[in-house]
Amino acid sequence: MGQEPQVGLAQIRLAAALRSPPVLTDIDALTKTDDQERTVTLTRDQLAAELKDAIATNSGLPTHWYNAEEVLQLEQELIFRKSWYHVGHLDQLANVGDFVTATIAGASVLLTRTEDGIRGYFNTCRHRGHLVKSEPQGNAKSLLCRYHGWNYDLDGSLRSAPYAQDEVGFDKCMFSLTPIKVDYWGPLVFANLDVNAPAFMELFHELPTQAAKEGWHMGEGFRRVPREPYTIEANWKLVVDNSIECTHCTLTHPNFARTYNVKMPVYEYHEFENYSYQWGPAQVEQRVGNYQQWFLFPHTLPVRAGGIVYDFWTFEPLSATKTLASGVHYFHESVTDAEIEAYYEGYSTITQEDQAVMENMQRGLNPAYSGPANRNLVKGGERLLQHMQSLMLNSFENA
Ligand code: FES
Ligand SMILES: [Fe+2]
Repeated sequence: MGQEPQVGLAQIRLAAALRSPPVLTDIDALTKTDDQERTVTLTRDQLAAELKDAIATNSGLPTHWYNAEEVLQLEQELIFRKSWYHVGHLDQLANVGDFVTATIAGASVLLTRTEDGIRGYFNTCRHRGHLVKSEPQGNAKSLLCRYHGWNYDLDGSLRSAPYAQDEVGFDKCMFSLTPIKVDYWGPLVFANLDVNAPAFMELFHELPTQAAKEGWHMGEGFRRVPREPYTIEANWKLVVDNSIECTHCTLTHPNFARTYNVKMPVYEYHEFENYSYQWGPAQVEQRVGNYQQWFLFPHTLPVRAGGIVYDFWTFEPLSATKTLASGVHYFHESVTDAEIEAYYEGYSTITQEDQAVMENMQRGLNPAYSGPANRNLVKGGERLLQHMQSLMLNSFENA
């Protein structure tokens, strides 16, 4: 009797996705196992080739990009763990000892105000890995891990370590908190897990001037209102793609489409080196003005509303088919409580409408659907999706 072939779960999933016609460009990478099924290990080179193919043919990506955990693992490594996340406002870190915590690229991070400025660390105790701080923000003289009492100075160096510090050969200098990178756009604070990543302003070098020309100026007197994060049952790229085109707005967001002119060429899309921008004029008199939304690759959407509200949306993959959406609004002090409520509720409607279409796209792009053949990106209104593909390709080739 022959041995049963050992097929992993990932291969079973991929086998379904790869039923004829095969969609990978490197045919040598396919291992035929019987007449019906093919198995393949997705590699960085193969995925880069698929991105190139999608860009060249103006089409969507094969369905494993939206279903396979292997693809997400590579995206985490090549994109998310090297990317800049909006984590707070300088007002939250105004005094020595102020700290904020956040989750970025799956890691808990901790930012503190020291005598010498703001520092960022993995929020992971060097003893056995407990979170050093579990509150979203606060003020402390030192950073005490409440599990066994290891205590760190605000600059991340280990001050005391009960039990361990009395042991022969224990060197406190070896157990500082692990640093991350911190940067700023005006009063907004950003963090990146990769200390060797390019600075925020190097990556988005056109942004300060371009955004200022569009009226972006966050001065004093803004109140920070975080929204409750929510889970979308869809791959993170479907969430991004949906956010960088408004050709769906007429059908999906009837109220929004009455408020703003969403028809091209009035509605505009613009590409920059590592980000994009869309603009739609208001068709009604309103304090929140025209629609202005940026997309900072790979996951952050800043929005300006009439200069009296600024929003930041961040999309964080929880799995290949699940994305956490987090939003924070900054309201100017001149915005009334009633206006805040109306703005907040308006967004709730839009996010619910978007959630439904994104989850239906995920269902449509199930692993059994065989390929991109009958999906095609519209060159005008969906051009930012292709821009997104080229930024993905850049990460796959150069990260
Ligand atoms: S894990 Fe932090 S003190 Fe033990
Ligand atoms: Fe939408």
